[in-house]
Amino acid sequence: MAKRKRYLFVCVNERPVGSPKGSCATRGAVEIHAALKAEIAMRKLAVTEVRACTSSCHDVCWAGPSILVSPDNVVYGRVTLDDVPEIVDALAEGRFVERLVLPPEDFEQSTARPGLPEHAPAKAPAAGSGAKP
Ligand code: FES
Repeated sequence: MAKRKRYLFVCVNERPVGSPKGSCATRGAVEIHAALKAEIAMRKLAVTEVRACTSSCHDVCWAGPSILVSPDNVVYGRVTLDDVPEIVDALAEGRFVERLVLPPEDFEQSTARPGLPEHAPAKAPAAGSGAKP
């Protein structure tokens, strides 16, 4: 496999809904990661341009879902499913989605803007369980 130009690390850390910091998984990060992978594959960018990976906590939980764009060290926050096409457009054009880039105050919970609402994350069926998706 070729080294990609960029890697998207999507935090999928999960805490119970209503925990003080919140978490990316309870704000839709698992679904966002899946949508990013699908969008990247559909545009045939997966082999050489970009790979979407899951990661643990980036310590900006209150501003999640967060995505670390590597090697640029840019952190997107409050990402929604609706943002996925725009994120991939920007990657293809070699730019960032500026409105999603977290400003310095969002790296401290005490100064961060309000977070997105939380909900219980969707669970993938266990392998071999016979459960329907
Ligand atoms: S839970 Fe995602 S940044 Fe902490």
